[in-house]
Amino acid sequence: MTSNTQVSISKSDFGTLSCGTNTDIYTLKNQLGTRISITNYGGIITHWYCKDREGQSDDIVLGYDNITSYEQDTYYLGAVIGRYAGRIDKGVLNIDGTEHQLSLNGAQNQLHGGFKGLNKRLWHGEIKKETNKVSLVLTYTSPDSEEGFPGTVNFKVIYSLDSNNTFDVEYFAETDKKTVVNLTQHTYFNLLGHTNGDINSHEVMLNADTFLPMNQDIYPTGELASVKDSCHDFTKLTTIGENIDNNSDEQVAIAKGYDNYWLFNEEVLCAGKLAAQVQTASNGRRIDVYTDQPCVILYTANYIDGSHLGKQEHTYQARAALCIETQQAFDKEHLAPQTACLITPDAPFYSKTSFVMTTF
Ligand code: BGC
Repeated sequence: MTSNTQVSISKSDFGTLSCGTNTDIYTLKNQLGTRISITNYGGIITHWYCKDREGQSDDIVLGYDNITSYEQDTYYLGAVIGRYAGRIDKGVLNIDGTEHQLSLNGAQNQLHGGFKGLNKRLWHGEIKKETNKVSLVLTYTSPDSEEGFPGTVNFKVIYSLDSNNTFDVEYFAETDKKTVVNLTQHTYFNLLGHTNGDINSHEVMLNADTFLPMNQDIYPTGELASVKDSCHDFTKLTTIGENIDNNSDEQVAIAKGYDNYWLFNEEVLCAGKLAAQVQTASNGRRIDVYTDQPCVILYTANYIDGSHLGKQEHTYQARAALCIETQQAFDKEHLAPQTACLITPDAPFYSKTSFVMTTF
């Protein structure tokens, strides 16, 4: 194969939204058998086929078969999350002494950007082709006051697949007023294949010595805890199922599984070292995650309850997948959310997270 036939990207119709507007689906492929589909509605990754150690290809992400189901989704399957990933207590945002009341789509909070966050917007899609790499460039302009956030913000997300089996997600945001952004990707991975039960047998490594305990309302308490000797110690590859039901651990009991912020160690941010790893020994699939973001939420699909019909008429249950949500919300200096996420017209936002697929 010559270099420029190793990767390809195509576009097709993905059906019509309830408002009558058409959506598209783009498929990025490489010569290693990876095939990732993304719709311009919510920047949602709908399908992610990749090979296991025997060369068997499976779709390793949860999703739906049609656009209507994505419009009705409440789990954020596969979507870009913003303007602000996570919860903002009472939806109150304070910027330089001015309070902004955000829309309240959660219990006394705003979750993942409000009723119609970036996950429910129609983005503009452009195809980009380079040697050994294809990209989908998605752009969306969020008007001033959308879901209560100040500032008109131009968002851009670039998804790229290359011939070495790396899938990059790059986020850009520029604003005309001081505001906050915190962007992540909410793909639910099940490396056994999306119909193949729970993720208890998955092994996970997080390059993080500390995590943020949560209170009953799932907000960080402000304490920075060591993972040592806790159920949150993933500094070495650890089977998820080992402690996911360990309700004697207060944090696992509150979250009904895993749903905390882990703070990456210095070497992740300063030296580009491996941030996270997920693998399944039974079929040898492995994903390595690299990022410039200071933290990650490992979320084990605790609130999925079989109420939506997924792809191939499959009904997903709790723990059917896990999300590796790299993000900005907290760093070591600013334990308060929002502070770490401020952007200004002079200081736009950029970040990149890479998912590298291998087998072992
Ligand atoms: C959060 C969970 C939230 C879930 C909603 C995750 O990103 O960490 O707390 O309930 O998204 O799907």
